[in-house]
This record gives sequence, structure tokens and C-alpha cells, in this order.
Amino acid sequence: MIVKWAGGKNWLYKKHKSIFPDSYNNYIEPFFGGGSIFFNMFPKKAYLSDVNEKLINLYIDLKNDPESLFQGVNRLIESHSDEQYYAVRDKFNNSKSTSSVYFLYLNRTCFNGIYRENRKGEFNVPVGRRKSSYFPFTMKDFLQLSFQLKNTNLQNCDFREALKTAKKGDFIYLDPPYIEFEKEYDSFRRYNGVVFSKSDLEELALEANRLKGKCKILISNFDQRGVKDYFTEKEWKFKSIKQMTYLSGKKEGRKYMNEALIYNY
Ligand SMILES: C[S@@+](CC[C@H](N)C(=O)[O-])C[C@H]1O[C@@H](n2cnc3c(N)ncnc32)[C@H](O)[C@@H]1O
Repeated sequence: MIVKWAGGKNWLYKKHKSIFPDSYNNYIEPFFGGGSIFFNMFPKKAYLSDVNEKLINLYIDLKNDPESLFQGVNRLIESHSDEQYYAVRDKFNNSKSTSSVYFLYLNRTCFNGIYRENRKGEFNVPVGRRKSSYFPFTMKDFLQLSFQLKNTNLQNCDFREALKTAKKGDFIYLDPPYIEFEKEYDSFRRYNGVVFSKSDLEELALEANRLKGKCKILISNFDQRGVKDYFTEKEWKFKSIKQMTYLSGKKEGRKYMNEALIYNY
């Protein structure tokens, strides 16, 4: 995946590929993040969206001009230093127009590869410590990713807006941020200064139940008390999967957690 993103689901596709459907019309992913499932599945026509504007702008630039993006980020990676990182972070936070080159450079070199904003909407992650493999891509990779995005509609919006495009026969993959009740998980969920709340999850469940008759839907979330209560056993299937999750850079931040898969096909 081009961005490092908390909650990325590459592992899910690698280990449980068979749970994803083979046939559907459009692919819809309203919590796009790093897009692991989309880039693995490579659907013919897709509607991809996320509430993070800078992230969606990055995919739009990757789709339209992969060469400039690659060259710009590569140049910064080659001259990377702590001083450069903080200078770029300041420019990124202070400029009105978002720069995808800065966004991707910061994402690849920041601590833990996490995108996190404070309440003012400023990217506030410190520089990472790793000196190697900051950017394991070539121009060819960027051209391939751009090609994969050709037949996609990319939108910066809330999931409620994104789900309005769903039509009969579509497949919707829903991977919302985890809602948790413990403070320690907050940085993991704060992708854009606003934390995904329990009432957001309730509204998402309402939407999924509204669309279940006409679309194939797969939801992945923490398998915690409460999440499955929104879905009846008569209409939905459930699978629980154990997965090592990294909640912080520290060893004690690594935990086995159960991921719930809730689907209707
Ligand atoms: C768990 S991540 C998705 C990870 C993705 N499946 C991957 O493999 O990288 C959840 C995403 O939901 C986005 N998000 C948070 N609240 C949202 C909302 N209300 N509407 C749409 N997207 C939202 C976040 O910006 C984040 O990118």
C-alpha cells in the first residue's frame, strides 16, 4: 500500500481472501484509508471515499499524475533528515492548499507511519526513527497504482454521503475506525481530529441494514461487546478472527484482538 495507515487490512485479504465476493457490480468503500482491500481486489469500477481530505487528494494526484508525485516524494526521501521532516511538517500544516508530495513524504517517514491530527486539524506526529525502507517504491509501482485507480470515483466525504451511491448488486466494504471505550486507543482512532463515535457506528449499522436487501455488504470491526448487537443473526453472518494489532510503537502496545466480520452474502 502506498500509505501506511492505522487499521490497514492487508492482512485480512491475505489470510481470508475467500470471504470477499467474486461477483458484484460496483465496488464501494467509504472508509478507504490505505485501501488495502481495493488494491488487492482490483475491481472494475469503484467508488472510493474517506473523510480525510488530504488522503483523498493524494489518491486523486496518484491517479492523474503519478510521475510528478513519485519524483517529488523521491527527492524529499533522498534528502531526508529530522530537520527537513519538521520543516516540511510546518509547511504542510500552514499552507492552505494540501500538497500530496508533503503528505506522502510525512506519512512514509513519521513515527510509526500513523496519520494523526490534533483538534486544530494539524498533523502532529513526530519524525520516525527508522532509516531504511522509507519508500520501497519505483516509478513503475506508481504507474501501476495509477492504472488501478483509472475507473474509480474518488470523493472526500462522510460515509453517510458515500452510501447514497449504492445501487442494486453493488458490493460495499465497510471498515470504520474502531470505537473503544479505553483512552489508550484514542490516537489510533483520531485520523482527522474527530473521533468516530458510538452514534456514528449506530448510524452506520442503520445504513447497512437499510441496504442489505440490495447490496452485498461486509463490515469489519473490533469484535467487542455491542458491535454485533446491531445485526440480527437471521440476516447477517458473523466470523471472529484473532489478529495481532499494533496500537503503539512499544512492545506492550502489541495485542491480540478479535476482529469481527459481519456480512450478508
Ligand atoms: C480503519 S481505517 C480504514 C483502513 C483501510 N481499510 C485500510 O486497509 O487501510 C478507517 C478510515 O475511516 C476514515 N473515517 C473516519 N470517520 C469517517 C467518516 N465519518 N466517514 C468516512 N470516513 C471516515 C478514516 O479517515 C480512516 O481512513
